[in-house]
Amino acid sequence: MTSTYHFDVLIIGSGVAGLSHALHLADHARVAVLSKTQLQEGASLYAQGGISVVLDQADSVQSHIDDTLLSGAGLCNEEAVRFTVEQARENIEWLIEQGVSFTKDGITSETYHLTQEGGHSHRRVIHAADATGREVETSLLAKAQAHPNIELFPYHISIDLITSRKQLGQDNNQCLGAYALDIKTDTPVSFIAPITVLATGGAGKVYLYTSNPDVSTGDGIAMGWRAGCRVANMEFIQFHPTCLYHPKAKSFLISEALRGEGAKLLLADGTQFMGEFHPQAELAPRDIVARAIDHEMKRLGDDCVYLDISHQSKEFIEEHFPTIHQRCLDFGIDMTQQPIPVVPAAHYTCGGLITDLHGQTDIAGLYAIGETAHTGLHGANRMASNSLLECIVFARSAADHIKQQLPLSTAIPVIPAWDASRVRPAREAISVSHNWDELRRFMWDYVGIVRSDERLYKAQRRLQLLQQEIADYYTQYRISSDLLELRNLAEIAELIISSALTRKESRGLHYTLDYPDLDESQPPQDTIIAGKS
Ligand code: FAD
Ligand code: SIN
Repeated sequence: MTSTYHFDVLIIGSGVAGLSHALHLADHARVAVLSKTQLQEGASLYAQGGISVVLDQADSVQSHIDDTLLSGAGLCNEEAVRFTVEQARENIEWLIEQGVSFTKDGITSETYHLTQEGGHSHRRVIHAADATGREVETSLLAKAQAHPNIELFPYHISIDLITSRKQLGQDNNQCLGAYALDIKTDTPVSFIAPITVLATGGAGKVYLYTSNPDVSTGDGIAMGWRAGCRVANMEFIQFHPTCLYHPKAKSFLISEALRGEGAKLLLADGTQFMGEFHPQAELAPRDIVARAIDHEMKRLGDDCVYLDISHQSKEFIEEHFPTIHQRCLDFGIDMTQQPIPVVPAAHYTCGGLITDLHGQTDIAGLYAIGETAHTGLHGANRMASNSLLECIVFARSAADHIKQQLPLSTAIPVIPAWDASRVRPAREAISVSHNWDELRRFMWDYVGIVRSDERLYKAQRRLQLLQQEIADYYTQYRISSDLLELRNLAEIAELIISSALTRKESRGLHYTLDYPDLDESQPPQDTIIAGKS
């Protein structure tokens, strides 16, 4: 027997976007928040550097806007940039009211330490040492757990959205909730709600090497696309220049804030090289630094480059980068004395489901916020620390928009339960795990930092084969988290490859050997892919 839950608002995802949104709504509506594993697990938990906000007297909102536009390589939506940057300060104040404790500067008891990161022309990144995400995520989670109107559902992986078009055969397309799999009991459940909010994060796991946690499989983007939402700019996958290079270090980031405090990138022989690639050297926008490292590694046949902050005192490093310092020590690297081996890895999904400034997607009753959404803020390359900012700003603007619609109509027709009657238990898991590995490897090899049409077509051919197998598997066997994620990752790969093939130029994070320059013959354009159904 399938359980059915009814709520005013269903939020899929309990990262900083989902939890902020839930807290803004909870005094006004009954809210369910789904998380596919533990509640705190997600990219938000691992954010290091911090959140961009103009707090320094010498800085200005206009400068933050200008830096964001420059990093975005001509593709940002200026209205979205201004909207986000202008609301940064009040949203940071809201986080502080929720109990988030940012690192102070030690000058007064009221003022905060600000770091600088790539693309920023000022110090404007507020942070909690080098574990900003953990501080924000755990503070918001504690608040959400204490709120009587918020019900949290860990280990519930959403399978697909429920829409009036698909489930009821109507012409209009309205979202009515989602089907999910209760992972602990292995049973499908229905969540019915007049408003659904996708806050499922990004899709870094589509690549073999990534800074992202395992949950970042692009589920929200894939579900929204399948339900009929347009998707924009999926070719712009950001590769973070500096992830720890060590055989046993799975996805550990070495924050850009190190470079903000003067860390230098070095080749194996100790030569500094970033000056040859950009006047801002180590603090150039991320796409440029990642590409420069990739270029040097390929030129020299090296496995990594090095990041050296040993000019700073031991005390400074221990105070500002305690997490990174300890993690490096765990792997036998003393960053106070020696350079850290680093490599680029997939880090951030700039594209996503197209939304307006209230987080509304193309489908009535469906919103998308956080890394799942494409708001226009990031353009062709996200500037460091603008992502958590986007999460909190759009979580609130979407909540404000939903509040205006209260009380929500609960007259939802009867929805059919998830039908698992025609499928049987899978005999073995090997096909799913093999396809996961294969997909992530060819995405890394053929659709990575430097692309070409030949590589993209190779990836596309392999993907088509995989997708046939996945479709067969999906229709024959009982669903599991791994199968659901694989299906979503394959669709994310499809979106990335076809977007990359559409863009006949190199811009921001999309660099192709076949079209190495900007196309200046026409105004910059987003790559938009129509919804699947
Ligand atoms: P997430 O925090 O990823 O949360 C996604 C949630 O969705 C999780 O709860 C997950 O369980 C749930 N979910 C996913 N799929 C499903 C499903 N099918 N069903 C149910 N639940 C689902 N940005 C900055 O601005 N500053 C930084 O310093 C910074 N540092 C970073 C460091 C690292 C290592 C990484 C990986 C990213 C960093 N970023 C940073 C980027 C930023 O952390 C993310 O973009 C942001 O946290 C995304 O938040 P989110 O709420 O959209 O998604
Ligand atoms: C970092 O700390 O380098 C990550 C910052 C970001 O991704 O915005």
